[in-house]
Amino acid sequence: MTPHNNKAIPLLDLQAQYDSIASELEAAALGIMRSGQFIMGEAVASFESDIAAYLGVEHALGCASGSDALLLALMALEIGPGDAVITSPFTFFATGGAIARLGATPVFMDIRPADFNLDPTGIRRFLEGSDTRYQALGVRPEQVKAIIPVHLYGQMADMEEFLAISKEFSIPLVEDAAQAIGAKQAFSDGRVVGAGIEGDFGCFSFFPSKNLGAFGDGGLITVRDPELAEKVRVLRLHGSKPKYYHQMVGINSRLDALQAAILGVKLKHLDSWSSARQEKAAVYNRLFAEAGLVSEAPSCWEQTCGGDCAWHGKGVVLPAETVAANGGSHIYHQYTIRIQNRDTLAQGLSEAGIGNSVYYPLCLHQQECFSSLGYAGVEELCPHAVCAAKQALSLPIYPELCEADQRRVVETIASLLA
Ligand SMILES: Cc1ncc(COP(=O)(O)O)c(C=O)c1O
Repeated sequence: MTPHNNKAIPLLDLQAQYDSIASELEAAALGIMRSGQFIMGEAVASFESDIAAYLGVEHALGCASGSDALLLALMALEIGPGDAVITSPFTFFATGGAIARLGATPVFMDIRPADFNLDPTGIRRFLEGSDTRYQALGVRPEQVKAIIPVHLYGQMADMEEFLAISKEFSIPLVEDAAQAIGAKQAFSDGRVVGAGIEGDFGCFSFFPSKNLGAFGDGGLITVRDPELAEKVRVLRLHGSKPKYYHQMVGINSRLDALQAAILGVKLKHLDSWSSARQEKAAVYNRLFAEAGLVSEAPSCWEQTCGGDCAWHGKGVVLPAETVAANGGSHIYHQYTIRIQNRDTLAQGLSEAGIGNSVYYPLCLHQQECFSSLGYAGVEELCPHAVCAAKQALSLPIYPELCEADQRRVVETIASLLA
């Protein structure tokens, strides 16, 4: 029960964001309603050009959702039955779902425990043929036609290493940047690279809870190659070019003009919102440290963990910024801690009126719909992901969150752990 003197602290407060820019949003929405132009048209073109400039890319194409962005990218690569696509098992379902929907085989490889992102080292070993464990699943390296690194929680997977693998093995990269718009990584040559920019495709989601969220579904694909960009442009319109003439079977996946207008307004605020999230993350880090709750990373991260973590630390493991140094940035789509007895703690927080969420409680390779892939017998393939699914807990984070509320979150965790 929420004590009467304590208001609830939501996981995310979209109302506060709306209130702060209501007049801008309402004017934009009214403009579309009065224009009568609801599909494609000027609002979509103008948003696509604004976001392309923001991201620093040539081709940025709106579509109906982040899920469709992934699907369209894989369709443009002509992924299909007999092909395999490597991705993370610790992500939202859409990442694996897009692969399976095209009749290809998702190959789930383990994550790096420090940042929850797909670990490139295991992938390299597999592609070199020195990890034969996937043979038990009937997957061979030469079947791999794409890799989907996921930039989870707002922090990039190690794109420098993924790009090296992509080049070495001639395998395209489809970045799942759904949670990471504006996130950056500094490469060893000093270049600072944005999420979804260097891969062959970048896939973004404008689901309302994202850092840049629409008033409904929406997505975006960035594409490096002009021919592939044109292919996506055609595929999102049922594969028709010119209209009513189809050389390809595409899908109906467009960004609504209304959403494009809303997103165009919000884009102007995105960087300040992401900076505010970074400040909130730093405040949490300080408050957890002051409360003496910070636990070292479990030692089993260095080894092969059995999926049932040997770590029995008492406190919380704070989110690690693995690629945020030297001008890189974590945009804190989520502020995700690790903790033992996570479900009990989550329930305690909910009872205290504090929003929290588990992203994600069950890895993709353990989902019923993927049982035919055969991972049940080879759990040791993704032990760090299995472990993360038991320990990860996301806490309230949004630009308008105040320090007093963050203090209450930390104090409540302290009392639940005591
Ligand atoms: C990592 C990841 N991939 C893909 C998606 C799919 O995006 P959408 O919900 O816009 O379809 C999401 C959205 O939640 C996501 O978090």
